[in-house]
Amino acid sequence: MGSRKLVRDIFLSKQTKKVVESRFSSILANRVFVIRRFCAQNELPNKVEQGTKAVTENLSERVNGASKESEASVKKGRLLTGATIGLLIAGGAYASIVDEGTFCGWLFSATKVVNPFFAFLDAERAHRLAIKAAALGLVPKEKRLDPSILGLEVWGRKFSNPIGLAAGFDKNAEAIEGLLGLGFGFLEVGSVTPMPQGGNPKPRIFRLPQEGAIINRCGFNSEGITSVAKRLGAQHGKRKLYESANPPPASDDEDEQPVKVPGVLGINLAKNKTTEDAAGDFVQGVYTLSPYADYLVLYARDQMQWGEEGPPPLLVKIAPDLSKQDLEDIAAVALTLRLDGLIISNTTILRPDPVSSYPVAEELGGLSGKPLFSPSTNILKEMYILTRGKIPLIGCGGVSSGEDAYKKIRAGASLVQIYTAFAYGGPALIPQMKAELAKCLERDGFKSVREAVGADCR
Ligand SMILES: Cc1cc2nc3c(=O)[nH]c(=O)nc-3n(C[C@H](O)[C@H](O)[C@H](O)COP(=O)(O)O)c2cc1C
Repeated sequence: MGSRKLVRDIFLSKQTKKVVESRFSSILANRVFVIRRFCAQNELPNKVEQGTKAVTENLSERVNGASKESEASVKKGRLLTGATIGLLIAGGAYASIVDEGTFCGWLFSATKVVNPFFAFLDAERAHRLAIKAAALGLVPKEKRLDPSILGLEVWGRKFSNPIGLAAGFDKNAEAIEGLLGLGFGFLEVGSVTPMPQGGNPKPRIFRLPQEGAIINRCGFNSEGITSVAKRLGAQHGKRKLYESANPPPASDDEDEQPVKVPGVLGINLAKNKTTEDAAGDFVQGVYTLSPYADYLVLYARDQMQWGEEGPPPLLVKIAPDLSKQDLEDIAAVALTLRLDGLIISNTTILRPDPVSSYPVAEELGGLSGKPLFSPSTNILKEMYILTRGKIPLIGCGGVSSGEDAYKKIRAGASLVQIYTAFAYGGPALIPQMKAELAKCLERDGFKSVREAVGADCR
């Protein structure tokens, strides 16, 4: 596929806009048309996110049915809940004698004690437990303000820090407030599919702790857009974070703490495995979930009619296993369609050394975590250069420290996402990463995150 053909297709779609508009309702038709054209005529949709998807196709032959979760796992779960409650009680006693900031720091550190217990559980059960705990508010809440050097504005949304939780952790938007409350600058829920689907048989998440890595072949398990929209609507209302775009004015009362800017919420949309109309799936996702999102992740962008607050920014997430030509094509399309951002990257289907030497490397699935850091940062840098810094990029893949986040920013990322490092490190990692990142910026003389974006590409 050449980028010239892509660009021609896009221009053609603009010429035929009027015909389409007369047949469908106004500008939605335009969006539908562009998405359909993008999905039908280009290979891009197959390339983006291929890291996870490619390996989840045709899995049934190699995976023999769902395995039953063991009773031992249930017992370990109870033990863990007990330990958490114990810590909370001890925390409550401590809270009565120290100030809020100190207590908050203590609570985050205390999670380091609980965290190793999760390693005893099957990976998916541990993950469910973490989501439940966050949904019930059984996780620490960040009360301390982020260092001002970490604040930035992207797409007109204010981020109090650039570190977000990547898609796949809260697939069904069950624990938004709890997770954002941990101090992430933003959270991406999903991937959400139009119809509910179970994903691949379990086990489908495999840990490789020696390398700080995970292999997963979840296969886009999702409760579906209706259920996620209901949950978002009931709990959080139409988000479109008014506050994130317009933080409340600072109070005149000096004794009063400044109001913390709430985190930004992204929604990652996917298609159903058995769909024959990929574009239609994305359009359904856009329609149903846009009112609740600060940004959406999917494959195409054009004009569409929205309320006063405007459409949520649209981003594309790409795989790290792309050729130079693929990257050039995607950059050309991203610039032509005026995409609002690219997320670089998803998991890799490769097994770089030393991962390949472990038996678990044989498992089908996308590899995430530390071994993904270099390849994903390399393509991030390439994409920043190809798009000439004109499109905000989210750097994702193998970030496990503030220094790593800083490297992603220097390579061209305006924002950074983590998943695997959070799964291993737990809540304590977040304040630690933010403090480290602030230090790195100050050390090198940057006054803001914005100043450091793309510093290694200049
Ligand atoms: C268990 C698991 C499930 C994931 N599910 C999704 C998903 O549903 N949609 C998506 O776009 N990315 C998904 N990802 C990919 C992450 O969002 C992220 O791109 C990738 O893990 C690389 O970041 P990391 O090295 O910090 O983990 C998943 C990753 C893992 C480990």
